[in-house]
Amino acid sequence: LAPETAKLKKFMQSIQSNPLKLVVVGAKRGKTFIRTARQAGIELSGVCDISPEALEHWKSEPGIRLYETYAQVLEDPTVDAVCLATPAGLHAAQSIEALQAGKHVISEVPAIRTLEEAAKLIEAVSSTGLTYMMAENYCYCREVLMVQHMVEQGAFGELIYASGAYIHDARNLMFSPDGSLTWRGEWRRTNAGNSYPTHSMGPVCRWLGINRTDRLATLSSFGSKIRAGQIFANTLYPDRTEYQEPGFFVAPDTCSSSILTDNEVLIDCRVDYASVRPHDMFRYELQGTKASFFMRDGTAQFWVAGYSDAWPAGEAKNGWDPIEKFAADFEHPLWRTYGKEAKAEGHGGGDYFVLREFAEAIREGRPPAIDVYDAVAWSSVIPLSAESIRTGSQPVPFPAIARGPR
Ligand SMILES: NC(=O)c1ccc[n+]([C@@H]2O[C@H](COP(=O)([O-])OP(=O)(O)OC[C@H]3O[C@@H](n4cnc5c(N)ncnc54)[C@H](O)[C@@H]3O)[C@@H](O)[C@H]2O)c1
Repeated sequence: LAPETAKLKKFMQSIQSNPLKLVVVGAKRGKTFIRTARQAGIELSGVCDISPEALEHWKSEPGIRLYETYAQVLEDPTVDAVCLATPAGLHAAQSIEALQAGKHVISEVPAIRTLEEAAKLIEAVSSTGLTYMMAENYCYCREVLMVQHMVEQGAFGELIYASGAYIHDARNLMFSPDGSLTWRGEWRRTNAGNSYPTHSMGPVCRWLGINRTDRLATLSSFGSKIRAGQIFANTLYPDRTEYQEPGFFVAPDTCSSSILTDNEVLIDCRVDYASVRPHDMFRYELQGTKASFFMRDGTAQFWVAGYSDAWPAGEAKNGWDPIEKFAADFEHPLWRTYGKEAKAEGHGGGDYFVLREFAEAIREGRPPAIDVYDAVAWSSVIPLSAESIRTGSQPVPFPAIARGPR
């Protein structure tokens, strides 16, 4: 661990002498970033929001400049980087504008909504040479990173299957108090497939080495019936009859995509942020030839050859083992070193690690762990799943733009 500790010391020194000045754009989700940014060694120098009410909260924060328009941020030469926490449909255009204005970008999820946006974003990153990272915080939760470390150490053997699901009853975020649709409501009205795939795809693709040793090949998607938005709207806004019209909402309550990789690993990617149930924040599975992992409702379970009980021919005996059985050998170095700082921050430590990684990548002049190609590959499930469902769940190939760098 000594090299990591030395690295941390060096990182902190460089931050104190030359802090990265970051402006958060979108003051709501952005609120969670202020403490986290400081913890991750970034100077949160400003906040931008087009809504005066959203900026109100920030007026009492010392040293934070408030911007009422995005253009003001991009014109400010003191700003090094922007953190985009705006409605999802704005991310691609705002990222491209920031890069062209000379700012590094960390963007909330998803990165893009269409393949045209994907091509323009990749072009903007490569032509400017600036740092672009997607803030996929779920990749950094302790269990996810431990599995990644186990994969890297060979404990899973050859990988066969992985799944990720984003299951969160977020219907209360679909409507504004006056009954109009928020961007999330609009998202459900206009995206007919899996419209929020990166929390599922991120961890899975990192385990599988997507864009490194494997690539996403083809996808086939299925959508359930569409009920949840209508039921919720009927309870809260019975006078808004448009919400009850068939076809008003187009996002299936549950959407499931089967994805095959070049190495013939099967991925299941599911989204359901409308059905009634408690929030299941991290739901994942990984199957290899030597080990198996699943996580549901906050509990991770493992079976690992050589560690877990087995019959003489190697089949599993006596069920699953808890995470702590593997911590001594497989805790990820990031969690071993920074776990204490990370635990205090949002989303299982993920918010801390994404900001840290972003700042480090800029300082070290290297690509970030989640680069523009990852952002595009994982987010491309949005247009591809809609296309598959539109054509009766036909398989859709991942186009070159979503298959990593050449
Ligand atoms: N990674 C995670 O765990 C996680 C969690 C929550 C939200 N998110 C993402 O964060 C983003 C924001 O989500 P939210 O829940 O805070 O949304 P929100 O609608 O509550 O807030 C968005 C804010 O952006 C502001 N805004 C809109 N257009 C703007 C513009 N052009 N310039 C500046 N500000 C503008 C709005 O006024 C609003 O205050 C979304 O992309 C969402 O997917 C990610």
